Amino acid sequence: MGKVSAAEIRAFKGRERLPVLTAYDYPMARLLNELGLPMILVGDSLGMVVLGYPDTTHVGMADMEHHVRAVARAEPAALIVADLPYGSCETEMLAVQNSRRLLAAGADAVKAEGVLDHEASVQAILAAGIPFMGHLGMLPQSIRKEGAYRIKGKKSSERERLLQEAELLDRWGAFAVVLELVDPAVAGAVTERIDAVTIGIGSGTDCDGQILVSHDLVGGFPWFTPRFVRPRLDVAAQIRRAVEAWRRDVRAGKS
Ligand code: KIV
Repeated sequence: MGKVSAAEIRAFKGRERLPVLTAYDYPMARLLNELGLPMILVGDSLGMVVLGYPDTTHVGMADMEHHVRAVARAEPAALIVADLPYGSCETEMLAVQNSRRLLAAGADAVKAEGVLDHEASVQAILAAGIPFMGHLGMLPQSIRKEGAYRIKGKKSSERERLLQEAELLDRWGAFAVVLELVDPAVAGAVTERIDAVTIGIGSGTDCDGQILVSHDLVGGFPWFTPRFVRPRLDVAAQIRRAVEAWRRDVRAGKS
């Protein structure tokens, strides 16, 4: 399979549903590629599930570049999308420079949270010809302002803003939009309204695709699992069992 392009991802719309997962390192990227996933996100969620930060606002460009490089070394056919971390899009110039840094580290596209608070930066990235994925709804980088992770789109003002931001992203040429914790009816309405693919997380099934943090899917971060995730594996329990068995053998002189 050749390298998947952002245009090919956009062309999934109405044809095939998109399964997308996060990867932060070489082995996971290689596994996801062997499984044929079309898109991998190097999300700034890595700050919480890999680096031990309390939220994603502590992740910086150097963290993102480090993990993007590891994922890119797996040379996946999948499109590698990298998150622009907190504070990296404050001006148009910064947004474009930081996007280029992520591309230089091996990403094929970038993602940034929100639109209306930094319209000019998002437009500048797209005008520079950099493939761009939007992120609307609950924005984890706003957690300190918002105070809690909660569903967006229940109030009519939120619904209108979500539709407006999705339409702007679509018009400016974003190939995809993540809808995080969006009221399912609104996520469905956005999906119908725009040509870009919508990738839902905790936003119901009426999106063009779904994304999860891979650690949540496999039980790799056992101290917290979002309510909307049904883990398919309990990797933490398997690690605990393996370590205990090996420790018993070492103490008994069998290993
Ligand atoms: O950082 C991340 O992993 C994300 C997904 C949860 C969409 O943004």
